[in-house]
Amino acid sequence: MPELITSDGELIAEELASRGIRFQRWPARAALPTGAAEAEILAAYADEVKRVQSEGGYPTVDAIRLNPDHPDREALRGKFLAEHVHSEDEVRFFVEGRGLFCLHIGDEVLQVICQADDWIAVPAGTRHWFDMGPEPQFCALRFFHNPEGWVAQFTGDPIAQGYPLLDQLQAVAP
Ligand SMILES: [Fe+2]
Repeated sequence: MPELITSDGELIAEELASRGIRFQRWPARAALPTGAAEAEILAAYADEVKRVQSEGGYPTVDAIRLNPDHPDREALRGKFLAEHVHSEDEVRFFVEGRGLFCLHIGDEVLQVICQADDWIAVPAGTRHWFDMGPEPQFCALRFFHNPEGWVAQFTGDPIAQGYPLLDQLQAVAP
């Protein structure tokens, strides 16, 4: 049974911080149109990007967008849904849409729906999985140390199969 279900950003940040996960809500960019190009997004968030880089490095920053008509959406979803770790932090900021990060820390699993304006930093070595849903819809900034981008080591643990997916959680989210 869940111990806590909340959409309160400060409470989410506090609970995650106590487990070593950084979470922030950034001010919305009302002037940034939906579907903006990568350069436009990076320019709009230049100050925040600079701040994150000054705190943690991450020399490579890009913006990716996934839409429901992406031809590889099922394969991509399946890959991210298996529990894995990275040798570097997984740092994301959601410009549009949403995605579900599931963090396996000790005996706990924290399921965090990140949506527009949410920033999260999953530390290197943290067991986790991610659900973009059957109809992915998001645009996210990605901060990397490794210019090769997303590299994962899969744990082989089927734990993710026992937890609700993005769509199921959204249906009960407060
Ligand atoms: Fe990951």
